[in-house]
Amino acid sequence: MDDLDPELLELARSARTVTVLSGAGMSAESGVPTFRDAGTGLWARWSPEELATPEAWDADPELVWSWYLWRARQVRRLRPNAGHRAIARWAERARVHVVTQNVDDLHERAGSTVLAHLHGSLFAFRCSVCDAPFPDRLVTGLSARTGRERSPGPEEPARERPPACRACGGPVRPAVVWFGELLPEGAMDRAASAVAAADLVLVVGTSGLVQPAASLPLLAAGRGTPVVEVNPEDTALTPHADRTVRAGSAEALPRLLAPPDDRPAVRPTGADR
Ligand code: APR
Repeated sequence: MDDLDPELLELARSARTVTVLSGAGMSAESGVPTFRDAGTGLWARWSPEELATPEAWDADPELVWSWYLWRARQVRRLRPNAGHRAIARWAERARVHVVTQNVDDLHERAGSTVLAHLHGSLFAFRCSVCDAPFPDRLVTGLSARTGRERSPGPEEPARERPPACRACGGPVRPAVVWFGELLPEGAMDRAASAVAAADLVLVVGTSGLVQPAASLPLLAAGRGTPVVEVNPEDTALTPHADRTVRAGSAEALPRLLAPPDDRPAVRPTGADR
């Protein structure tokens, strides 16, 4: 990973107010599947139309509920990776606003405060009829009967019935943003304000294909704010990045964001080696 040159390291080191926009690739090295990676992404195994739309929920709430509950239990078994921890430690030296498209809680479990979960959370639930919130402790992992941690389950989700709303009896759904739905109230406003205030925007592990989240790095670029992309592959956002680090986030971020005194000496390039 020779694209962590002194200029890029200095850019990260000297930034005082940064916004991190993360996507599924941020959690990939924790074992959380991405959505679009060929062969391994969730959408390679399941159809988003059948699981992540209001129509899918209306057609088969049990199937959709079971899939999200299975994903939540899988995430509970996994842990934040070195990339999550590097971002959390960065906040000790700079003002770091984390904006994520991810519905997992790995940023929080690494110690970050998340300014906005643009696409909701696997660990928040609400009534699909009256919108009343539903306590997550009644859902994730714990069986209503035994209170013991249920095993996260086999490779395929078992069908489970969504709980009933305690206010109106309607079926409870995951508070995740499905295709065609609006983002949580205020989430994009908070994210856009954070981008406007940033002197560096770090884009980690997103294909940049889903709006409006993908517009945030363009907002930064339009303001002349440096945009750094960390992703093993080119993405739709690459043309708008000032710098790219072609590596996985768990490898790149600890080195990019290492406190100055922790950094291995970077050999000068060129004739003066
Ligand atoms: N480190 C960094 N990036 C990685 C890694 C890694 N170890 N592994 C894969 N990636 C990159 C891939 O190259 C890809 O560009 O992560 C990106 C994942 O892209 P997607 O699977 O499209 O995920 P994301 O961009 O977060 O999707 C956005 O789409 O389906 C919806 O709501 C869902 O929030 C999701 C949104």
